Amino acid sequence: MTRSTALPLAAIAVMAVIFIFDTVTDMEIAVAVFYVAVVLFSVGFLHRRGIMLLASACIALTVLSYFLTQSGSPRAGLINCVISIAAFGLTTYLCLRTAAAEAAARNAQAQLAHVTRVTTLGELTASIAHEVNQPLAAIVTNGNACQRWLAAEPPNLGQATSTLERIVEDAMRASEVVARIRALVKRAPFVKTPLDLNETVLEAIALARNEIEQNDVSVRMALADGLPPVPADKIQLQQVILNLVANAVDAVRSTDAGPRELKIETRLHDGDGVLVGVHDSGAGFGRQDPERLFDPFHTTKPGGMGMGLAISRSIVEAHGGRIWAAAGTSRGTVLRFTLPQS
Ligand SMILES: Nc1ncnc2c1ncn2[C@@H]1O[C@H](COP(=O)(O)OP(=O)(O)O)[C@@H](O)[C@H]1O
Ligand SMILES: [Mg+2]
Repeated sequence: MTRSTALPLAAIAVMAVIFIFDTVTDMEIAVAVFYVAVVLFSVGFLHRRGIMLLASACIALTVLSYFLTQSGSPRAGLINCVISIAAFGLTTYLCLRTAAAEAAARNAQAQLAHVTRVTTLGELTASIAHEVNQPLAAIVTNGNACQRWLAAEPPNLGQATSTLERIVEDAMRASEVVARIRALVKRAPFVKTPLDLNETVLEAIALARNEIEQNDVSVRMALADGLPPVPADKIQLQQVILNLVANAVDAVRSTDAGPRELKIETRLHDGDGVLVGVHDSGAGFGRQDPERLFDPFHTTKPGGMGMGLAISRSIVEAHGGRIWAAAGTSRGTVLRFTLPQS
């Protein structure tokens, strides 16, 4: 039996038990009050309408057992009946309000995540434009060459064909970059699919590549082989990686002395989960509490928004993982996050 059918069946069973006890016990015993537990329990798997229907069913059952109960004082029974109905009526109202507030908070968070994603991309636009321009320029050059091979007497079909192959490859490269950007900017719903973590990391780094190169930063990859696939939302995960890389590049950019390095590592964690680490050779975050970095709107940058890490944390936690900052071994900062395998 799946969870989606087991939970409603359990709720119905508990309601039936409460109904039976409520009917066979004396009027004075307010068993019906236990329907409150059913309403609270149902919040986990029912939507608004479902919760309201369930509460109405509880009210109907309470009234029904009042009429069916033979023993005890009808006056006490009536009072108990009213108190019970008031109790789970109120519980239902409070549950619905909490659910509505949670939905509004989730929605606001999704919108904010979208805004920071677009802002991060805005910052990366120059480098992305370069990423697309390179294959386009190559296509033009190869296109001209191809024309010449074909115009020759006799036409050099062999050379023309291989130039055309290069044109197709470049066009595909450009369209891949565009597709990656479109996927990132799109407001897609949260979808978990089994992900190859290393591939996800490499794709995210590809988007930030020029930003990295323009700041004269070198990137070392330490990606473990044979990592298990993790159920995750690719776009959201890439957003986390992009945020961490953008911060690392910012940190390196603001230091003059020393090496200008980033190290991205992936490895198995705790036997079944996976870990991603972004190490930088920047100046570090000083004496401040590392947890402070994750506070919304906490920024030490002139044009900073201070939302990158806050949003990264909410994404990682929505995947059942953990994210934290620490000082690097010799210098700089390490941001690590883990994701469970299931
Ligand atoms: N790799 C890092 N090295 C040093 N400080 C960092 C690093 N990553 C984040 N921080 C600190 O945490 C703050 C919050 O980061 P973030 O939430 O991404 O917002 P923003 O980048 O807009 O400032 C940064 O302003 C910076 O002070
Ligand atoms: Mg940032």
